[in-house]
Amino acid sequence: MKATAVAPANIALIKYWGKKDASLRLPLNASLSMNLSDAYAVTTVDFSPIYTEHQIVTPVAPFHKNSRPRKVMKCEALNQKEAGRIFSHMDMMQKRAGVHGKAKIATMNSFPKGTGIASSASGFAALTAAAAAALGLQYSEKELSILARLGSGSACRSIPDGFVLWEEGNSSETSFARSIFDHRWWDLRDIVIVVASGKKEISSAAGMEQVGTSPKLSDRLAAVPNRIKRAIDAIASKDIQTLGSVMEEDCLDMHAVMQSQVPALYYWTEETREIMDAVGQWRSGGLAVYFTIDAGPNVHLVCEGKNEKSVLEKVKELSGVQRVIVNKPARGVHLIAHHLY
Ligand code: PMV
Repeated sequence: MKATAVAPANIALIKYWGKKDASLRLPLNASLSMNLSDAYAVTTVDFSPIYTEHQIVTPVAPFHKNSRPRKVMKCEALNQKEAGRIFSHMDMMQKRAGVHGKAKIATMNSFPKGTGIASSASGFAALTAAAAAALGLQYSEKELSILARLGSGSACRSIPDGFVLWEEGNSSETSFARSIFDHRWWDLRDIVIVVASGKKEISSAAGMEQVGTSPKLSDRLAAVPNRIKRAIDAIASKDIQTLGSVMEEDCLDMHAVMQSQVPALYYWTEETREIMDAVGQWRSGGLAVYFTIDAGPNVHLVCEGKNEKSVLEKVKELSGVQRVIVNKPARGVHLIAHHLY
């Protein structure tokens, strides 16, 4: 059976860095994220006994979100390692389902790789939901989140709707994400400022392997639960000042851990620093905008919808900006009737 799913990427407001079980992708700490409306993956999966190998094919049917022609979807060639990871995920899901046959997969992204948005999160969330439907399985949101996590950690946060909490759990069955507020709850923006689009040298998975060498890790792990609580309270009361402050505090703390690992991991560039400084100045000037940065040099600016225009005006003053992606909170993964082939 053929099925197609759309899944958003997500930005962690309170981040995870480090795993307590790398093969099960169990994180060292809980994290909190927001799904992104304009950074998503669309994936079609078909399982059939007539396919002798899993295969990735080029999409033939163009995808228009909401039936409106919009930005050209990216269909970048996957390398062997990426394809291998996708195929292992299909094997794992089939084994659990006890279904034979092989998968034919087509996938597209609304954003290019290397834009500071984790394409693996949207990709594995869409793949998991499409494969489950193609296998004829009725998984709950929790089960889909667990399966997506096994493909890529942060993918579990792209399954539920809107603002999402991933409790670290202490086993595969207890480590999954759930929605704490839906995407309509708060009209926030995540404005991604792309300053570098090359592939990063050290992936987050590889970087996380060395987390234990940072002398700052234990303090970070002790601080995160209270940050999560403050951030949830701030979202509940739509308090951008508190959410922004705790989000920046956590981002800087995660990067302090990365930078104090052995070998040190430094993802920022001059442009990153320039934007971080500029955000501080804009805020001193009365504009409520805050930054967060994942495992790369690109910067996410978080503000309320009413300030989107003012922030975009300020962004024009920055140098080295290659691309800007404006996101609103988005729903989680869902199936659609339009197939990519
Ligand atoms: O699960 P991964 O490999 O996408 O790692 C995500 C790591 C960070 O983006 C740096 C933090 C996070 O919680 O998203």
